[in-house]
Amino acid sequence: MTNTHPRISPMAATYPASSIRKMFNLALDFPDAVKLTVGEPDFNTPEHIKAAGIRGIEHDNTRYVANAGIPELRAAIARKYSGRWNRGVGPENVMVSFGAMEALTFALDVTVSPGDEVIIPDPSFPNYMGQVHRLGGSPVSVPVTEDNDFKLRAEDVRAAITDRTAAVLINSPSNPLGSVMDQADLEQIADLAEEHGFTVISDEVYDEMVFDDAVFTSIAEVRPDFDRYLAIGSFSKTYAMTGWRCGFVIGSEDFIAPMALLQEGLTSSLPGFVQEAAVAAIDGPQDVVASMVASYAERRELMVERINPIDGLSLLRPAATFYAWVNVKDWGLNSWDLATQLLEKHNLATIPGSAFGPAGEGYLRLTFAVSPETINTACDRLEAFAADR
Ligand SMILES: Cc1ncc(COP(=O)(O)O)c(C=O)c1O
Repeated sequence: MTNTHPRISPMAATYPASSIRKMFNLALDFPDAVKLTVGEPDFNTPEHIKAAGIRGIEHDNTRYVANAGIPELRAAIARKYSGRWNRGVGPENVMVSFGAMEALTFALDVTVSPGDEVIIPDPSFPNYMGQVHRLGGSPVSVPVTEDNDFKLRAEDVRAAITDRTAAVLINSPSNPLGSVMDQADLEQIADLAEEHGFTVISDEVYDEMVFDDAVFTSIAEVRPDFDRYLAIGSFSKTYAMTGWRCGFVIGSEDFIAPMALLQEGLTSSLPGFVQEAAVAAIDGPQDVVASMVASYAERRELMVERINPIDGLSLLRPAATFYAWVNVKDWGLNSWDLATQLLEKHNLATIPGSAFGPAGEGYLRLTFAVSPETINTACDRLEAFAADR
C-alpha cells in the first residue's frame, strides 16, 4: 500500500509568510539604510535586571524549573497585576511563557479546536494569523479604520460572531496602530463573550507604553466577575528585555492549569535565571520604565511634527506604543511598492501596512524607538521622496 501522506504537512506548507520578515530580509542588502522597522526598545535592559540574571547563573539556577514558572515570578506577576487591575490575581492565575509569543500559543491552545473561528482585528500583529492557522482554526478579520481613530469597535466584533467563534483576539494598545481601545467597547466585548460563550484573548504587551493623554483599560478590569479572558503580557517592551524571551498569561485557573502540561511537551520551562531577572524587573525601581516611556513620548512628538507637514502624508498622534501608522494613500502607490522604493531609492527601511492585513493597505508603520537623529534623517528622506514624485 502506498502512503499518501504529504512529505510536508499542509499546515507547514501553507503557513502564512510574514511580509515584515520579507522586508527585513530585503533591507539586509542595504546595510546603510536608516531602519524604522524593528519593533523593540532601543534601550538596553536596565542594569539591576541584568545583574539579577547574572546572579541567578552564578548561584547555579541553571537546571530545569517548574513548567508554569518559578513560584517567585508567578507571585510577583500576580502581585503586580492585582494592584494594577484592583482584582484578586494569585500565582495560580499566572503562566510564565517564552515571551508573549508563547503566551499566545497557550491562550489559543486552551480555547481553539480545529475548525473554530477566531476573530482578529485587521490590521494587527501578523503572528496572530499564523498561530490560528497552526491550530487549524479559521481567522475572521474585523477591519479597524481611521474613521474610528484606529480603535476596534465592539459593534464590528458583534457582526463577525458566529456559533463557531471560539475566541476574540484583541490588542490594545495596538501594534501597528498605536491606538488604545475605549473602555465601553471592552465592556461590550466582555458581555458578548458571556452571551456567546467565547474567550477574549487580550494581548496587552504595550500596557505600560501609554502616553499622558490616553487611558488604557485591561480586559481584566472591566468587571470583577468577568473571567472569560486571558490577558497576555511581556517583559520584552516594558523593561527592554526582548531577547530574554519572558512573557506571561493571566486568567482563571481552569484556563491556566493545562498550560503547564502543554509547556512540558513544548519547552519544559523558561530558564530559571531569566525568571530571576524578571522578578527583579517587577520588584526593582519602576522609574526606569517611566523614563523610557517619557522618551518614547518625546520621540512621538518629533515624529508627528515632522510627518504631518510632508505633502501627502498624515499621522494621527499615537496614544501608545512606539509605532507611527502613517497614511500614505495620497502618494498613490501600494504600500509594498512604496516601502520597496523608499528602500531602494532613499535608503530608508519601513514596514508596508499590508504586512498587517488587507486593511493596512495605504499605510506604513514607522518605529519611533530610534534616536531623534534617526527620526530626523528618516523624515528628510520621506521629504525627498515627496519632492521627487
Ligand atoms: C502586539 C504584540 N504581541 C506580542 C509580541 C511578542 O512579544 P514577545 O517578545 O513578548 O514575544 C509583540 C512583539 O512585537 C507584539 O507587538
